[in-house]
Amino acid sequence: MAADVRVICAIGRSGQLGLNGHLPWEGNPGRPFVEDVERFFEISRGHVLVAGPTTIGAVPDFARETRTLVTIRSHEDPREVLSRFPDRVVFIGGGPKVWDVYAPFVRHWDVNVLPYDGEADRWFDPAWLLAGGAARRG
Ligand SMILES: NC(=O)c1ccc[n+]([C@@H]2O[C@H](COP(=O)([O-])OP(=O)(O)OC[C@H]3O[C@@H](n4cnc5c(N)ncnc54)[C@H](OP(=O)(O)O)[C@@H]3O)[C@@H](O)[C@H]2O)c1
Repeated sequence: MAADVRVICAIGRSGQLGLNGHLPWEGNPGRPFVEDVERFFEISRGHVLVAGPTTIGAVPDFARETRTLVTIRSHEDPREVLSRFPDRVVFIGGGPKVWDVYAPFVRHWDVNVLPYDGEADRWFDPAWLLAGGAARRG
């Protein structure tokens, strides 16, 4: 069976995703922010996390041994990457350029909107949510 391809991401109220290589709200001790990170590592435990170099580099040590981490580069074919993991749940971890390419393969989007209104240099694109349908319609 083909991989079950999913995304879990968190965005600010305007779609903020990242800032200077980190989560824009990193270090904020507020409950929604802390719970969001805990939930990500809980749900993705035991599964495959495929992402760009910056995103994989930000995975904390405690989470590295409890999931399969795969750093992808732009020359790689997404179909070939996904074909390495038949029967596995594969989370596509971003960043945006990665989601641009992998969105057509994603079956399940889990998007948590956090109470953040500050700046960002990486943004969520709502078109990703419909990319799978567009691909299926041809
Ligand atoms: N809020 C969230 O849920 C969330 C989740 C993930 C990331 N983020 C944030 O996003 C930022 C990191 O993302 P980023 O985009 O800057 O860096 P990234 O994670 O390294 O991802 C982008 C890189 O992935 C590589 N890549 C691999 N496959 C690709 C493909 N098929 N097409 C295009 N590029 C591909 C490219 O590098 P090469 O061209 O060098 O191969 C590209 O520059 C951070 O600020 C992070 O905190 C937020």
